[in-house]
Amino acid sequence: MNFDFIQHDVIEQKSKSRYRQLVCNSTTSQDNEIVIDGKSYLNFSSNDYLGLNNHIEVNRALQEGADQFGVCSSSSSLVTGYHYAHQSLEADICQWLNKPKCLLFSSGFAANLALFQALGKSEESHFYLDKLSHASMIDGAYHSKAKVKRFNHNNIEHLTTLLTKANQSADKLIASEGVFSMDGCQAKVVELAQTAKSQDAWLYLDDAHSIGVIGTEGQGSNYFSDIDITMATMGKAIGTSGAFLTCSDDLHEYMINFSRHYIYSTAISPAVAWATRKSIELIRKEQWRREKISELSALFGKLLAPEIELISTESSIHAIIIGDEKKALNVSETLKKQGIWLTAIRPPTVAVNSSRLRVTICANHNSKDIRYLAGCINKAIA
Ligand SMILES: Cc1ncc(COP(=O)(O)O)c(C=O)c1O
Repeated sequence: MNFDFIQHDVIEQKSKSRYRQLVCNSTTSQDNEIVIDGKSYLNFSSNDYLGLNNHIEVNRALQEGADQFGVCSSSSSLVTGYHYAHQSLEADICQWLNKPKCLLFSSGFAANLALFQALGKSEESHFYLDKLSHASMIDGAYHSKAKVKRFNHNNIEHLTTLLTKANQSADKLIASEGVFSMDGCQAKVVELAQTAKSQDAWLYLDDAHSIGVIGTEGQGSNYFSDIDITMATMGKAIGTSGAFLTCSDDLHEYMINFSRHYIYSTAISPAVAWATRKSIELIRKEQWRREKISELSALFGKLLAPEIELISTESSIHAIIIGDEKKALNVSETLKKQGIWLTAIRPPTVAVNSSRLRVTICANHNSKDIRYLAGCINKAIA
């Protein structure tokens, strides 16, 4: 049979307790509930950290954007797909993060591929990625022509050692996530920025899980330091969809001329761009959403059994390491029976023997939800 690895690989996946399948979410409300197969659960697996998905003002802006500009951009940005809605959103993001330029992409995955492929033009480019970097950063880096090195997670000393060994004429890019997606810990942003400066490198941060959540106006890593290039997705705390890159004037001009992912892809929906402007306006002014995440996260840490230790973080993400895949699945199933939706995260998303519960605490949770969750986890893991 042609491509007989397909059946073989799926069978193997099942035997390793790594089998994945789609579940259809039929939730209609704006709160922390999720409805799967007609059953309602408390959702602790959402990336809607600030609870802005389905926000009435964002939905209204989406409708307004559709009425004014249409749902579809109808073309790539460089042909006729770049609308006033996109231009205004880019201007808002530049003002928010204090950056010269911004570019929009259909997803964070595409933006990461675009950036690494554009900068990895030849072996003269050297990329230094944190070991826990997201799959899209790794794919982008290794599919480029650059030389790629991985530094130990959050280890500035190891990074510096690698950088000092590099050819002095190389073009160097340090890359990390601002908040790590599966661990919730934060990058050492200030130290990374200082290292980049002292080693004549650029710093690239993927702020998928920092934007909106970190900083007094949700600026993410740029709250701590002036980051050369930032990528953030709009499908998590921003509550819409797509992604953006902020960068210098020169890099912006280069991407528009040479980034294949940018040039040969339809521009994002102008209606979504318009809705995203409203979402960012709310993110900047509604500090209570970030305060709520902090308060509820502290409560969660306090209520968990003493043997369960959480990494200290300002983010929404709290990883509880279980280890074995099967055990993680069993805990997730037990919680499901108690009305809690908490997906088990398994290899290859995380390292072997580090399967985990990835709890996300969002601004639309309340203290009763957190008490219930902590009680159920304590019982399920004990
Ligand atoms: C760190 C990180 N970068 C990039 C992405 C991809 O972003 P998007 O979902 O917009 O493609 C994700 C997850 O979705 C992520 O967690």
